[in-house]
Amino acid sequence: MTTDVGLWLSRELDSVGSLVETHLKSKHDAVNDVCGYLSGYRGKMLRPSLVLLSWRSVQESNVVTDDVYRAAGVVELIHLATLVHDDVLDEADIRRGGQTINSLWGNEGAVMLGDYLLSSAFHLCSTIRNPDLNLLLGDVTNTLCAGELVQLYHRNDINLSLEDYYQIIHDKTASLISASCKIGGVLGGANDETIYDLGVFGNSIGTAFQIKDDLIDILADELVAGKPTGKDVAKGKMTLPAILMLEQNPNCLPELRSALENDDLTRLKKMLIDTSSIGLAEGVICELVDRAVDSIGSLQNNSYGKQLVNLAKQLSEPI
Ligand code: FPP
Ligand code: MG
Repeated sequence: MTTDVGLWLSRELDSVGSLVETHLKSKHDAVNDVCGYLSGYRGKMLRPSLVLLSWRSVQESNVVTDDVYRAAGVVELIHLATLVHDDVLDEADIRRGGQTINSLWGNEGAVMLGDYLLSSAFHLCSTIRNPDLNLLLGDVTNTLCAGELVQLYHRNDINLSLEDYYQIIHDKTASLISASCKIGGVLGGANDETIYDLGVFGNSIGTAFQIKDDLIDILADELVAGKPTGKDVAKGKMTLPAILMLEQNPNCLPELRSALENDDLTRLKKMLIDTSSIGLAEGVICELVDRAVDSIGSLQNNSYGKQLVNLAKQLSEPI
């Protein structure tokens, strides 16, 4: 990103990264050592980017306030906590091309580190002294956990409905992404309608993001994905292309069941390609991106709103 907005964003994200690092600092060397493992978990910082861009798209000042930095740090900390716990649930060894905390330090350490991150997030949030933010984010973390619980409840449920699938991915992924956009709007002093629109934007890209993540799990090579693939099949998770395939071709049920029972990713992939179900899921991603772009039409006359649109459009690029 070499545009003015891109340079601004990457500079501000560095500040958010430093704030997070400082906030996690402990008087105990042991805690600092374990937090050091987290450097490999830092990705593109999508959620803090959404806080910063949403904030800047609704107001004039280029000088990021302390509250905005902290809120961006809070959503990143919550996200990190979910990744560390998710890798325990998935028994994953690799994330972003590096070793996971659970593989380096075992499940007990990873569970405790995830708890430390979540607790640090809410401690940092409390320093903003805006109870509405605490309430919003407390609701989001409840929703994230509920999403994971419902997903576990439906493990190996080949009849998972489309409605239940969308509810799960809303809860486990889109809810935090949507909240990140809304928080930017709230701290930027936007009116209720704009905050609502930012929430719809975040919800749509968050849903598209998870559908794409689910497609990557089926289609991509481990090296390209930077994490193990085929995990959804191994963990008995039904995802969008398989649900759409069954909806259109109920006769595929026995073969799908056999592929899932045998963790046969190659057969699953072939079935989904042969029935054009991958294409159907990609079509849903494009529809969600269009909905996202439409929802923030009023913010697209400034370059920060345009950057939100660019982020959304990246999701419709091929895997
Ligand atoms: C990734 O999905 C998982 C999430 C986005 C949410 C994980 C949430 C928890 C584990 C609940 C714990 C919550 C808190 C607040 C600590 P995925 O497994 O489909 O994606 P992946 O490919 O990145 O593993
Ligand atoms: Mg996972």
